[in-house]
Amino acid sequence: EKGGWSSFMAKEISEEPEAVAKTILGRVHDGLVDLPELAALGDDVLTGLDRVLIIACGTAYYAGLVGKYAIEQWARVPVDVELAHEFRYREPVLSPRTLVVSISQSGETMDTLMAVKYAREQGARTLSICNTQGATIPRESDAVVYTHAGPEVAVASTKAFVAQITAIYLLGLQLGQVRGALEPERARGLVAELQAVPEKLAAVLNSGERIREMAKWMADTQSVLFLGRHVGYPVALEGALKLKELAYIHAEGFAAGELKHGPIALIEPGQVVFVIVPSPRDPSSLHAKVVSNIQEIRARGARVIAIAEAGDVAVLPHADEVIRIPLASPFFEPLLAVVPLHIFGMELAAAKGLDVDQPRNLAKSVTVE
Ligand code: M6R
Repeated sequence: EKGGWSSFMAKEISEEPEAVAKTILGRVHDGLVDLPELAALGDDVLTGLDRVLIIACGTAYYAGLVGKYAIEQWARVPVDVELAHEFRYREPVLSPRTLVVSISQSGETMDTLMAVKYAREQGARTLSICNTQGATIPRESDAVVYTHAGPEVAVASTKAFVAQITAIYLLGLQLGQVRGALEPERARGLVAELQAVPEKLAAVLNSGERIREMAKWMADTQSVLFLGRHVGYPVALEGALKLKELAYIHAEGFAAGELKHGPIALIEPGQVVFVIVPSPRDPSSLHAKVVSNIQEIRARGARVIAIAEAGDVAVLPHADEVIRIPLASPFFEPLLAVVPLHIFGMELAAAKGLDVDQPRNLAKSVTVE
């Protein structure tokens, strides 16, 4: 039950730290990832696979997109991510060396289920990442890694999303370990960072009050854009989906590098743009590039809300609002940056007087096409 919270969604957002912690629990030994569930895939599958294909819908698909960046980096294996309904109707090419990973909170999404069945028929190995014990998709898969977010009641997925990213990171780390792509010391460092996420997430939840204030002044906003790069890009997509489904307003997520290829034409005075800013400590030049994107849209009158790391002063002169997240290395930022967006979606819907848990026209589990 709601246990004193105004909505299931509010309760479930507050459980995001726990969802990550419980998904890691018991799966780290001697500082390294150990997922015994993967043995059910068969001998040598992890070392012998030459491609990972992630299939999912909606928010679970965005978790898959985040996973692509991490698995490719850590395990040095090519990863594709596909929407299940696009995948299943075009006779995709699979081989016994393809590991097909489905991600589904409910484990009952019809398109994802049918995609898994197709993959099995084609001889691919199938792994389900699922939040619901004994659901259909895990039963139809060779192996399952459960996320332990606990039951998610609100239609908008929140704690399941961070748990899905956690599970796919565990998979990426284990693949990196067994394939020799990750040195044990590097793997241990990444595992330790993942284990530190729940505490950092708890700190992010403190920004809730400020976001509620922002949502109030934005209650009449007609359109909100979200920009991100690298793992921040799927976070931008997730932020936009939450606004569509909860607040019924037009929202789009873009890869910041795409701005000049079209979306910048949308920027007019007063347009609200959330920007997920990569860490300035990241050795890549992405921070500088995103700050320059912010300058470009601000020069055209955008109202910029930056989600940036604590201590990142470079964004200050250019942003109208800055929401701070704790320091984390690049792969762990999406887990932190998404929480303010989950809160924002909920608060904007609440400010508009809408039903946060039961948005119109939507079902929690899409068991039909
Ligand atoms: O149960 P699933 O994870 O398979 O559901 C997938 C999508 O239907 C789901 O994530 C949907 O997009 C959410 N309402 C988003 O908040």
